[in-house]
Amino acid sequence: MTINEIKEEIERLKKEKDFTILAHAYQSQDIWEIADYIGDSFYLSQKAQEVSSSNVLMCGVRFMAETVKILSPEKTVFLANSIAECPMADQMDKEVIEQLKEDMPDYSVVAYINTTAELKTICDACVTSSSAVKIIKNIPNDKILFIPDCNLGDWVAKQVPEKHLELLRGGCPTHLRITTANVKKAKELYPEALILVHPECHPTVVGLADFVGSTTEIISYAKSSKAKSFIIGTENSIVEHLKFECQDKEFYPLSKDCICHNMKATTLPDVYKCLKGEAGEEILLEEDVIFKARKSIDEMLRLAK
Ligand code: 13P
Ligand code: SF4
Repeated sequence: MTINEIKEEIERLKKEKDFTILAHAYQSQDIWEIADYIGDSFYLSQKAQEVSSSNVLMCGVRFMAETVKILSPEKTVFLANSIAECPMADQMDKEVIEQLKEDMPDYSVVAYINTTAELKTICDACVTSSSAVKIIKNIPNDKILFIPDCNLGDWVAKQVPEKHLELLRGGCPTHLRITTANVKKAKELYPEALILVHPECHPTVVGLADFVGSTTEIISYAKSSKAKSFIIGTENSIVEHLKFECQDKEFYPLSKDCICHNMKATTLPDVYKCLKGEAGEEILLEEDVIFKARKSIDEMLRLAK
């Protein structure tokens, strides 16, 4: 089958089987073209509550599909390709965080949404990259144990100096591939270009950027900016999407190695097979996990208002 034939079949099956397709911004262009909603982790969490179809297919990684299930437990939720895991989500054991909670009873535990549903059950609130600063400002407690991404945590701590953030050593292995040497080289090659990076990058890289934001904030910034060239410090699919969307501007990756193989695991044929009922994984979570994890996600949605 050609790409266009697969796309037509996907559109037909979505209607026939009452599916909504959610896609994270890191998905490839062909998946963007068949998705109903595309965005960053915060936007996808909001959409998870709003969609009216009985089935939802997540093109992203596992914690994103789990978030949909937690927010809409009555829906049947599928992860398009079950090997799509976020390595950061598995970096912190629940038992370790439970012990830290005992040792630090006056701290609120705030988790990046890139965590397992199980870990979310013992957290006070979740954040995403686009909502973290606002949420940390709005949390009544001044003492925060921020897990698992110490790079995002460092960036948030600098924006909200009135709060004390205790950070652990976790983070995104994809964004850690970007170094200050990459920034130096990119600035030499493209001196006019603005540097836009994700806060999952190392603080030394973030400190050299012209703009720091979530995936969709980077896209919006580049689209609305008067500048004509940009160096992008996040997963390289964003470079591809911006090239499609802004033909009059130039986009360069900060590092050609900033590729998330988990985000890239999902293909258009995976989506097609999942809609046919031949592939994908239905997300099943225990009621108790949904109930407890939901509190931290609801808190995120409330505090981000
Ligand atoms: P955002 O799209 O929320 O910026 O998240 C980035 C990311 O790494 C998702 O896994
Ligand atoms: Fe996880 Fe990083 Fe991949 Fe996002 S880019 S899914 S944080 S490994």
